[in-house]
Amino acid sequence: MSKDIVAQFEKERRERVSYYEKNRSFSDLSQQWLEISMREKYVYNFDWLGRPIIQYPQDMVAMQELIWLTKPDLIIETGIAHGGSLVLNASMLALLDYSDAVEKKMVLDPAWPQRKVLGIDIDIRLHNRAAIESHPMASRIEMLEGSSIAPEIISQVHEYAKGFNRILVSLDSNHTHDHVLAELKAYAPLTSIGSYCVVFDTFVEQMPDDLFPDRPWAPGNNPQTAAREFLKTHPEFEVDSSVQHRLQVTVAPGGYIKRIR
Ligand SMILES: C[S@@+](CC[C@H](N)C(=O)[O-])C[C@H]1O[C@@H](n2cnc3c(N)ncnc32)[C@H](O)[C@@H]1O
Repeated sequence: MSKDIVAQFEKERRERVSYYEKNRSFSDLSQQWLEISMREKYVYNFDWLGRPIIQYPQDMVAMQELIWLTKPDLIIETGIAHGGSLVLNASMLALLDYSDAVEKKMVLDPAWPQRKVLGIDIDIRLHNRAAIESHPMASRIEMLEGSSIAPEIISQVHEYAKGFNRILVSLDSNHTHDHVLAELKAYAPLTSIGSYCVVFDTFVEQMPDDLFPDRPWAPGNNPQTAAREFLKTHPEFEVDSSVQHRLQVTVAPGGYIKRIR
């Protein structure tokens, strides 16, 4: 009986989300809200465990769901900024380690984290580095400073990744087409089958030209154009559009990319 209730709940959720795809007034309003909230710099309003995170709450919840679902032992992320998303990902990995310990009836030793986050940023400001390195999640975090598409950084990331089995990739650095395409070529192949390569800020493609006047990205030159080009020659990946339909408000439409083989 209770199995039936759970199945019914999940069926209703699937049907509701698939109806959202056709509900133009809901999606138009969500797009309009996204545009106004971007102009209002809403994305800078939040912290994760005390570190400023440059994400929408909806996408943070989606990351929590994907991490729980795919149980990575390594998350590779480009774009550290203040460290909020590094700490978010590290805290989710800490909860996975905790869950493993509960299941195995073991005591979790926080000094020996099993799972890690590897962050890459071209400019890790001293105050951000100091705050990240003194954060309770620090033992789960490694950082590399340099351009995410520099050959020496790419080879260090590949070398580090050799010690892990289930990898999730998150790209949130420079949002131009060429940069994101180069990141996808460098890091998407490290994504484990069944796991995700999340490309943030694909929403730029659907926004007006003037939204980021001081940045090189705009419609026609952004993470979504890069992801589309990458996917043309990489059938081992596909967009999991159920995530964007569930969220409605997301900076990553077409950016929740799953490795299917
Ligand atoms: C949007 S912020 C990252 C936000 C962060 N992921 C979060 O959620 O809080 C973008 C970051 O990308 C970094 N960045 C810009 N160009 C880069 C490059 N070529 N390689 C690596 N990082 C880069 C910037 O220094 C900046 O810290």
